[in-house]
Amino acid sequence: MKKIKLTVIPGDGIGSEVMPHALDILDVIGEIHGGLDFEYEHFDYGCDYYLKHGKMMADDGMEHLAESDSILLGAVGDASKVPDHISLWGLLLKIRQEFELAINVRPAKVFRGIDSPLSAPEDFDLVVVRENSEGEYSSVGGRMYRGDDEIAIQNNVFSKRATKQAMEYAFKLSAGRSHHVTSATKSNGIFHAMPFWDEVFSETSAQYEGIRTSQQHIDALAASLVTHPQRYDTIVASNLFGDILTDIGAAIMGSIGIAPSANLNLNDKSPSMFEPVHGSAPDIAGRGIANPIGQIWTVKMLLDHHGEEEMGSMLLNTMESVTADGILTPDVGGGASTDEVAGEVIKRLKRKM
Ligand code: NAD
Ligand code: IPM
Ligand code: MN
Repeated sequence: MKKIKLTVIPGDGIGSEVMPHALDILDVIGEIHGGLDFEYEHFDYGCDYYLKHGKMMADDGMEHLAESDSILLGAVGDASKVPDHISLWGLLLKIRQEFELAINVRPAKVFRGIDSPLSAPEDFDLVVVRENSEGEYSSVGGRMYRGDDEIAIQNNVFSKRATKQAMEYAFKLSAGRSHHVTSATKSNGIFHAMPFWDEVFSETSAQYEGIRTSQQHIDALAASLVTHPQRYDTIVASNLFGDILTDIGAAIMGSIGIAPSANLNLNDKSPSMFEPVHGSAPDIAGRGIANPIGQIWTVKMLLDHHGEEEMGSMLLNTMESVTADGILTPDVGGGASTDEVAGEVIKRLKRKM
């Protein structure tokens, strides 16, 4: 029996509404597989934990998480309780940066049964490889002076090692896709790190024969992703550019509620983390209408990561069969609840047992 030890952090808002379904699905998949067993350790880290303990996670939280094979996360953030910069640096970004989850893989594609806001999204199939450990998300900087003299400084940190690692990952990924990597840049003289980014990109591309490359300024790229989504196969982007592009990718699919992401540690030194692209959605939390597809798709990415691609594909196909039959939450134009959509995925998976 193959055992996969998971730590589970549902987090805030809709995180705790979609997470239980992901775990039920993992259990069913374990049964279908016959030789796969998931063991869970649950952590109630999030904004309520902060209100009780004055911190986002226990002092030995990272040590506990480090003992697992992978982490499943829902969403973090509830600004009505804790300012976002405290909750995010104390949990989500802490895990990404301290575990060196340097690569963030975020797929987006046409999903059967879900309408895109674009009139012709056919064949849209994108993956964004986002540098996930540094760049614009550095803690170097701060606020100085007070009153009218106050200034805020944010230093971007781009290391050759992390930049190259993200780019190499994108080239390798694209070799199994449409052999085309686009670099999201902004090298028109404004942003010192970007000429450096471009140099590392051309150095990396020279190592990979047979992969077509393009470079586009982030602003033009954002526009072109909307007008010509099929032009893109694999995009490599810095932390902030990748964050923004992946919400656009999710929007092209039809909703931010569908998109998944994998935060990977390539050295296997620490567990990788799987989380939807969306946040805690305070505007719909508690109403039972959150789209569970993003969180369920993270289960597919987790299965792939642990070498269970066959199970991962089966899950993706089952999810698409549910959406294709019009069983949809309100964000994608349906009238079904979170429980109904996820319950239908589970029902159809069970038929495969
Ligand atoms: P958000 O993703 O939570 O919500 C944006 C919009 O998308 C909202 O209208 C919301 O209702 C909708 N939405 C999101 N997920 C949905 C789903 N599964 N089903 C249906 N609709 C969905 O982004 P935000 O409003 O910018 O942020 C809210 C909080 O979440 C903030 O505290 C933010 O910092 C945090 N956040 C956390 C993560 C994370 O933990 N990975 C990601 C993004 C935002
Ligand atoms: C995401 C989120 C996070 C990010 C926030 C909540 C820090 O938007 O995972 O896309 O910017 O990376
Ligand atoms: Mn984001």
